[in-house]
Amino acid sequence: MKQYKPLELAQKPTPLHRLNRMSELLDIDLWIKRDDLTGDILTCGNKIRKLEYIMADAVDKKADTVIVAGGIQSNLAKTTAALAVRLGISPVMVLAGEKPYIAKGNFFLASLLGVETRFVEISHPSELATAMKDVSKELENEGARPYIVGFGASNGLGTMGYVEAYKELTVQMRKEGVEFDHQFLAAGSGGTLAGIMAGSIFENSNSLITGISPWLSSSEVKESVWKCIREMEGFLDIKPGSIKLKKDVEVDDSYIGSGYGIPTRECINAIRKLAREEAILIDHTYTGKAMAALLDYVEKGRVKPGEKVLFWHTGGAPALFTLEAEKEF
Ligand SMILES: Cc1ncc(COP(=O)(O)O)c(C=O)c1O
Repeated sequence: MKQYKPLELAQKPTPLHRLNRMSELLDIDLWIKRDDLTGDILTCGNKIRKLEYIMADAVDKKADTVIVAGGIQSNLAKTTAALAVRLGISPVMVLAGEKPYIAKGNFFLASLLGVETRFVEISHPSELATAMKDVSKELENEGARPYIVGFGASNGLGTMGYVEAYKELTVQMRKEGVEFDHQFLAAGSGGTLAGIMAGSIFENSNSLITGISPWLSSSEVKESVWKCIREMEGFLDIKPGSIKLKKDVEVDDSYIGSGYGIPTRECINAIRKLAREEAILIDHTYTGKAMAALLDYVEKGRVKPGEKVLFWHTGGAPALFTLEAEKEF
């Protein structure tokens, strides 16, 4: 198996711990994997684990510019920009929509870094890939050596970051003497779920892993998960199609509400509950909707009393600073 050497950029291992008060409240055994603590406010969350592999590739290819895309509050765009600054590479962010009148949350943080930003009008997130290619061509014509960070950093390379994370989790589970019946996480562009699914196969886990989509349909996320897994097989030099899951990827798209980044009432309740019971912050775009799903699964008996459940906290709290306390909470 070919070895890829990631850059060491994240704080690892991230803590795995039990949520005692939430466990009691829900009558389940609830644990959390704190991937919101992979870095400081500029780099925390799931994206840095993928970027350890992707930025290593950019450095290897002697890129002097990295191009990354997302929404205005993109955790990926801000994290990539911050890592690029630290590595001495120029970041360019391609963001969907219009320049906001006031810079808040992640966009405020990226603005502090002085990142070059292009705004594009799109009707589907997939159009961001074309926009990044256009910017790349333009920069190449100006003599730069640009590197495009794939959409959501969800590709074969990025996926390896979450295979590693699953290995890390397995070591911690053995130490704690816990095996999970269920695992829940937010699944956007699918790379995190892909790495966790592949990692769970490599580690022989029987956990039922469910990705909760904050914007794409369940079939779109599943397609992306499989694409990431197949692409990763290429990087690992293993036979195409050799990673087989025990059952198909589970993605639930019924907690999106009115759309991406628009909090549902259940999501606000979930954010409030975790803050008030455990003093842990989750966000209204990704992790709040994933936690809302977990709470609903418990309420509907899809997670049974006493079952052991893991919640992957993939970060995103800086976006909370775009909300208004009196209005939303
Ligand atoms: C906080 C947070 N959680 C989860 C995700 C989903 O990760 P992925 O795109 O790998 O599915 C993202 C992606 O942007 C994110 O920012």
